[in-house]
Amino acid sequence: MNNKQTILVWDVPIRVFHWLLVICFAGAWLTSESERLQMIHYAFGYSAVALVLFRLVWGFIGTKYARFHQFIKGPKEMIAHAKGLLGGHQHIMPGHNPVGGIVMLGLMLVILLIGLTGYWTVKEFLGDFMSGAHEAIASLALGLVIIHIAAAVIMSLLQKENLVLAMMNGKKMGYLNKQFDFLSI
Ligand code: HEM
Ligand code: HEM
Repeated sequence: MNNKQTILVWDVPIRVFHWLLVICFAGAWLTSESERLQMIHYAFGYSAVALVLFRLVWGFIGTKYARFHQFIKGPKEMIAHAKGLLGGHQHIMPGHNPVGGIVMLGLMLVILLIGLTGYWTVKEFLGDFMSGAHEAIASLALGLVIIHIAAAVIMSLLQKENLVLAMMNGKKMGYLNKQFDFLSI
């Protein structure tokens, strides 16, 4: 195939959302144990929630690859994609693949849940249970983020394309198969 080309996959709002979310998530973690920095912890946490709320809206009105219907697929397609990966056959989509897409959406929802349990902790709703839930869900999100970063590095090596750079400049390069509108190698 000779129709190799660069396409803009991640629009500016997605990229700004992503790197601000990284700052807010890291900021919320780094301030979580300090009483002196409590207000800064809340500010980082609520900012992360606001970013995710924006992203949920953008998933309906944003550009092509930002939209949920582009990457949220049924279980059949997710299983087929995972099997393909394990079998060494890759169908590389310009945006999220069906497995990555659902994990990303899950991470966003988990961040909303952290915000909600944080708010309820401040309101002393259900006492220690709520602060325990807040911490446990924050740890779950951290686990997902670690997997997410590892996946970004591993998929970059497998696809021979720097996906982290793509999240900075928005562009991905590939062999565009016009018939199916995904990249196949
Ligand atoms: C330095 C660490 C990070 C790197 C290198 C990184 C890299 C990436 C890359 C390459 C993508 C695009 C994946 C794809 O091509 O399908 C992505 C998407 C995403 N990342 Fe990260 N990420 C990092 C940290 C985080 C953190 C801390 C969070 C959240 C707490 C996060 C949340 C997301 C979300 C929600 C998306 C989906 C973007 C969207 O559809 O709007 N990432 N990240
Ligand atoms: C991405 C967002 C957030 C993350 C990752 C996060 C993470 C954490 C973590 C790990 C702790 C436990 C600290 C410890 O070891 O004691 C904590 C505590 C706490 N967080 Fe958050 N948080 C976030 C957002 C929020 C929000 C929006 C609020 C609400 C204002 C909030 C309120 C609290 C409170 C009150 C505590 C103390 C709980 C206690 O008494 O043990 N957090 N947070």
